Amino acid sequence: MQSKILIVDDDPHSVVTLESILNGQGYQILSAESGASALEKAEGIMPDLILLDVMMPGMDGFEVCRRLRATPKLAEAPIILLTALDDRASRLRGIEAGADDFLTKPADRQELRLRVKTILRLDRYRTLLTQRESLRQMAERVVTAQEEERKRLSRELHDDLGQALIAHSLRLRHLQMELPMQTEALNGELEALVADTNRIIDKMRQIAQDIRPTLLDTLGLRSALETHTREFGLRTNLPVVFEADGEIPQIADVHSITLYRILQETLTNVIKHSKASQVWVELSVDGRNIVLTVQDNGAGFSETGEPSKGMGIASLRERLALVGGELTIHSSAGRGTIISAKLPLDEPRQTGESA
Ligand SMILES: Nc1ncnc2c1ncn2[C@@H]1O[C@H](COP(=O)(O)OP(=O)(O)OP(=O)(O)O)[C@@H](O)[C@H]1O
Ligand SMILES: [Mg+2]
Repeated sequence: MQSKILIVDDDPHSVVTLESILNGQGYQILSAESGASALEKAEGIMPDLILLDVMMPGMDGFEVCRRLRATPKLAEAPIILLTALDDRASRLRGIEAGADDFLTKPADRQELRLRVKTILRLDRYRTLLTQRESLRQMAERVVTAQEEERKRLSRELHDDLGQALIAHSLRLRHLQMELPMQTEALNGELEALVADTNRIIDKMRQIAQDIRPTLLDTLGLRSALETHTREFGLRTNLPVVFEADGEIPQIADVHSITLYRILQETLTNVIKHSKASQVWVELSVDGRNIVLTVQDNGAGFSETGEPSKGMGIASLRERLALVGGELTIHSSAGRGTIISAKLPLDEPRQTGESA
């Protein structure tokens, strides 16, 4: 596949000159006339190399470089800074901003061609991206497989064991009705057995629902989260407000289950740790992300304090990282807690086609 080179320069003559040097070498050459447009274009085209002018009005090359480095997809993209200022200070600034190499303007034809060729041959950035993506896909498959297994378990618990217990309870009830009046003690014993069986059925249903929230399959994400929130409120007597954007797009199963697990754990934490008197749950779409926020007005906690022995939040962070999301916590003693989980919506797959 042709390597893509993005030239970023506000001076059209410079762009033409650079293009003429690189033309005929088998590259696909694209250009941007400002820092802002470069940032936008680079995300779309994923260039194999960026030739970046330093002196530009508005956003200079250093700033563009810093921002590219802060964009996860482009953090490893090779960047050559083109600088008219052949001084040490600006090179240091360039290194600080994350540039890989420098060229002095006006560029020497031979030197520019050679540097570009060397960097493109190394191709380490594509390799890194491809490796990262395949790791991510593998992790996603592990989570998916785990959830499939949970689905099967939950179905078996609910359908097989559940049905068996219900039949058992009915037979007990039947036996109780057949008994002659005088056997009062026996009757009481049977009554207790029926009550026990029904408690076991309820408990088992709860376990089946926790293992795999069937509501997710039947009602979809929004209603499943809403139902869980409402039941939590009823169970705990804690006022909970649930709000969701009107339009929640369809997302992958592994993403829905991740958000559901986050809601389960954060609400459990509210009850276990916060002594809150009000909880808010919000599901929203923000640009290219879906965001779940759980807020309480309880005791709060400090993340810098003594490290917790709990596994809940750590495992939420891991689950989210696996699907390319992140967890943010805002909390301090006495001021409640806000936990937000952000997940990218249908992230475009990079399959490492350059390989
Ligand atoms: N809503 C909250 N209000 C106050 N403190 C909280 C809240 N959520 C979490 N915490 C604090 O953060 C710590 C870590 O939470 P985490 O869920 O990781 O562990 P845990 O709930 O203690 O144990 P586990 O989840 O493994 O059963 C808790 O021990 C608690 O101190
Ligand atoms: Mg917890």
